[in-house]
Amino acid sequence: MLALTATSARPHVALAEVPDPAPLPHEALVRVRAFSLNRGEVLGLPSRPEGSPTGWDLAGVIEREAADGTGPPTGARVVGLVAAGAWAELAAVPTDRLAVLPAELSDARAAALPTAGLTALRSLEVAGLVLGKRVLVTGATGGVGRFAVQLAYAAGARVTALARDVAASEELLRGLGAADVVDTVDDDFDLVIDAVGGETFARAIEHLLPRGLVVNLATGAPDEMVSFRAAGFDRAKGARIYTLNLPDELAAHASTSSDLARLCTLVAEGRLDPQVELEESWREAAAALDALLTRRIGGKAVLHVD
Ligand SMILES: NC(=O)c1ccc[n+]([C@@H]2O[C@H](COP(=O)([O-])OP(=O)(O)OC[C@H]3O[C@@H](n4cnc5c(N)ncnc54)[C@H](OP(=O)(O)O)[C@@H]3O)[C@@H](O)[C@H]2O)c1
Repeated sequence: MLALTATSARPHVALAEVPDPAPLPHEALVRVRAFSLNRGEVLGLPSRPEGSPTGWDLAGVIEREAADGTGPPTGARVVGLVAAGAWAELAAVPTDRLAVLPAELSDARAAALPTAGLTALRSLEVAGLVLGKRVLVTGATGGVGRFAVQLAYAAGARVTALARDVAASEELLRGLGAADVVDTVDDDFDLVIDAVGGETFARAIEHLLPRGLVVNLATGAPDEMVSFRAAGFDRAKGARIYTLNLPDELAAHASTSSDLARLCTLVAEGRLDPQVELEESWREAAAALDALLTRRIGGKAVLHVD
């Protein structure tokens, strides 16, 4: 089969002939129709072994259902995620990481959901009920951020969106449910979903209400130091920082399939927009990766396996 594999040379992916995946008993073989790009996996490409399969999020059709009888049947349209190997004609996907697609949900919109959507959903679930609470989403114009703004709004929070360029993104973010769009953290919040890290993470820590929570998503470089005014954190009694790593979350909770299904239903009902900003053939992967890394697109980039 053909797959996009990692290369050390730019653009760090190449379409190559590789062996078909050999699914384990609990894995279904999925014929991939579309996959989305996530900043984290794109940034990680140069450090992957030369020629290794890559890619997390996919939508497609079950080519062969799992041998252990779990999961969707052969022929079902599905969305799912894998640790590596989604950017390929075929992928072996654990059945507990798959959900059947509603008929009205396109492959492209579905493929945009898994990593970014589940990260935003888990971040809100860590916080618990946010009805009427003050939620700040940083990196709000990005893939995770746009899901977080929409889901927090849908859950009844008063959402503040932090964006680098307020003038350019205010209309978009208000349309997704943000009550306020800011470029600095001035107010205090019950929950901060931080998809930026660094200085922004530090400011978030200083701006928590009592029993507030910062969900830390965006780790900086290994040696990056972050400093914050301790008094800001100290006066927020019971405040916490929760470091969320999606693979750990997925391993710890047996709800990935149902969570994916929830996201699909929200999209199908028109209550969540996956914000697909770029759709292309996977043969144009280099240009799509570049558009994501140089921030010419926010939201999600989806490539079709055509
Ligand atoms: N922990 C996990 O399990 C997990 C899961 C998914 C993602 N992540 C991480 O979460 C982060 C966001 O992921 P993503 O897929 O949403 O990436 P993305 O689509 O590239 O979005 C990043 C967002 O952050 C904004 N941003 C970057 N630097 C900023 C700054 N200094 N001030 C304000 N805004 C800034 C960008 O705005 P501009 O467009 O203006 O630059 C963009 O809106 C990444 O670091 C990713 O690795 C972690």
